[in-house]
Amino acid sequence: MRDMIRDEVRAAPPYAFQEALGDVKLDQNEAPRDLPEAVRRRLLDRLADADWNRYPALRAEEAHRALAERDGWHPEGVLLAPGSNVLIQTVVIAAGLGRTVLTVEPTFSVYGQQARLLGAKHVSVPLQSPGFTLDVEGIERALKQGPGVWFLADPAAPTGNRHDDGAVERLLDVAREEGWLTVIDEAYWPYDRRHRLDQVRGQPDRIALRTFSKADAMGGVRLGYALGATETISELTKVVLPFNVSTWQSTAVALLAADAEANAAREARIEEAIEERARVYATLEAMERVDVHPSVTNFLLFSVPDAKWVYDQLLEAGIRIRRQDHLPGLDGHLRVSMGTPNENDRFLDALTRVLNLEVTHG
Ligand SMILES: Cc1ncc(COP(=O)(O)O)c(C=O)c1O
Repeated sequence: MRDMIRDEVRAAPPYAFQEALGDVKLDQNEAPRDLPEAVRRRLLDRLADADWNRYPALRAEEAHRALAERDGWHPEGVLLAPGSNVLIQTVVIAAGLGRTVLTVEPTFSVYGQQARLLGAKHVSVPLQSPGFTLDVEGIERALKQGPGVWFLADPAAPTGNRHDDGAVERLLDVAREEGWLTVIDEAYWPYDRRHRLDQVRGQPDRIALRTFSKADAMGGVRLGYALGATETISELTKVVLPFNVSTWQSTAVALLAADAEANAAREARIEEAIEERARVYATLEAMERVDVHPSVTNFLLFSVPDAKWVYDQLLEAGIRIRRQDHLPGLDGHLRVSMGTPNENDRFLDALTRVLNLEVTHG
């Protein structure tokens, strides 16, 4: 019975996410505010007019055009999918199988998880401290043993920093010389207001990954996309399953990418997250026994003397954040997403109380 399932799958742990209770939800880097009511209504009206009995368009042209317009790209260089996670898997299938998947460590866990599940070789190069910087020589050495797919989250997750421009450019050049496909995962770029599309434009060996789950406040709808050269995107399109973007999903993208009110609300959400990041950072920095890392994203990574205990105590106070202390190099670390000012205050108050308790707990 067990032999029916491939060894790689049986050896893999389930995705590490603990569904937790608690009314302040700061554990998945989502947008804390939903779309404006009028935008939701417009979307529902469009869905009411759509044909639900028919398969969606094979290539969701309107959605691809709207995204291309929003990001200043060409529509044939856009690939929409039900979440950027799906595209991570697509890229591993297209360019990583029988080759290598290269990541830094720690990073977004899905890259390595997909590599292992699909049976690709996973090589990871630890980030350097302080500051979680790229080990340029180490990554160069790994790139020389390729080719395959190299995933770089920039802004980085879960460390929250932006990687050095010179280091990234040098590594992008080496990756090209060695025949790698480079994926720059820009899930958090809106909170840094900087991206690397100029290094992707016109470069068939590079793609950028983006998601609607964070700044676009659409985590529940599952939408992500890749931007790349026409020839690369058309190869990746062969790998994604036909009709994998539903009429509901493509309708949402077509409306949101072009809706002025939706875009203004998105800007306001980003602005609020950036302001809250500065405020929460300053408060955490002033706390004794907390070590917080600078971030250009909508979350902060920090360490405390006893991460499991602090996490459990916060949960009891109704505050859900995310443990990161199981990841290599992140002993004692927790991650908190930026919520509304009120949610962030509740988190900070609870943390202050818990840390005072912890002194007695020992
Ligand atoms: C770096 C990074 N990439 C991709 C994703 C997944 O995005 P999606 O919801 O589009 O699958 C996340 C989600 O947390 C992320 O942190």
